[in-house]
Amino acid sequence: MNRIERMRQRMHEERIDAYIVIRPENGRYLSGFTGGEATLYITSEKALLLTDFRYIAQAKAQSPDFEIIDAGQDHFASLAEIGEHVQQVGFEGDYVTYVDHGKLQAALSQAELLSLPNLIGYLRSVKDDSELKLIREAVKIADLAFADVLKTIKIGQTEEEIGLNLDFSMRHAGASGGSFDFIVASGVRSALPHGTASSKIVQSGEFLTMDFGAIYQGYCSDITRTVFLGEPEDKQREVYEIVLAAQRAGIEAVAPGRTGKEVDAVARKLIEETGYGEYFGHGLGHSVGLAIHEGPNLNKREDRVLEPGMVVTVEPGIYIPDWGGVRIEDMVLVTENGCEVLTQAPKDFIIIK
Ligand code: GLY
Ligand code: MN
Ligand code: MN
Repeated sequence: MNRIERMRQRMHEERIDAYIVIRPENGRYLSGFTGGEATLYITSEKALLLTDFRYIAQAKAQSPDFEIIDAGQDHFASLAEIGEHVQQVGFEGDYVTYVDHGKLQAALSQAELLSLPNLIGYLRSVKDDSELKLIREAVKIADLAFADVLKTIKIGQTEEEIGLNLDFSMRHAGASGGSFDFIVASGVRSALPHGTASSKIVQSGEFLTMDFGAIYQGYCSDITRTVFLGEPEDKQREVYEIVLAAQRAGIEAVAPGRTGKEVDAVARKLIEETGYGEYFGHGLGHSVGLAIHEGPNLNKREDRVLEPGMVVTVEPGIYIPDWGGVRIEDMVLVTENGCEVLTQAPKDFIIIK
């Protein structure tokens, strides 16, 4: 079954007559269209792609399974003109703004609008071979960038310079850009799980956490490595080794049939048993694909079961305020029997003198 057929099956299960797509990753997943602005309108019969003059030729080339409509600047007004008598219409309730919801309701005045944010997310969670190929490449680019940056990190550099070097390496290796704002956090800043690169200078005696990723042909990678500058103290070695052990245990636990909650618990228990549990305040991981954060997650609340073809991160951390922190993150592919670790960058404790 192709993606539109799978989509129609899901729509049938949800008892909706039409579904409106505006989230770019969802639109790209179903149609192949990579341009800036499009609205998809899908029914059991129709697959329409509404865009404007700027993108018509591109949409025709990229989305042969869709009827391309020049809808100008107001896609929803054009939907009114399409004038179908649909009753139940699903939309991405987590993405459509309050204003757009009003316009949509005005355009489809006869319809009942139903917020179904995860309809396409569910389809996207299991990756097909063509997607896995691109994800593997995005991961490889991030691995290469880490190998490159290790050769250049020096005490006295700013976090921003290190981030810039990562970005340069990835683009040089074929990335269209970074998959999010890179986290480069050193010293006490490494205790900030999302400390984006700053003008702080990296110094001897500090952890340096780098969390970054590439976009390759639309698909994201996500990796974190924490290295040390200078000579670590015993507690710094200990915290690193605990996070690494938890990360390895988390990876061991990834297998089809397990829930995200169960996998999270394995790594979390290991950290809790060492007494650092209160310093691991986020989930163990998330899925990755066309978006950097997708479902299912690996966290305390995730009841969804892992399936072969899902790609998740495993990224435990310990963050001690005013002291520092460590996170290690790999991407893994759920397989029939367990998982395959996609990230190849080394993760033994790297000390830069
Ligand atoms: N970069 C954020 C994360 O690892 O999820
Ligand atoms: Mn990350
Ligand atoms: Mn991540």
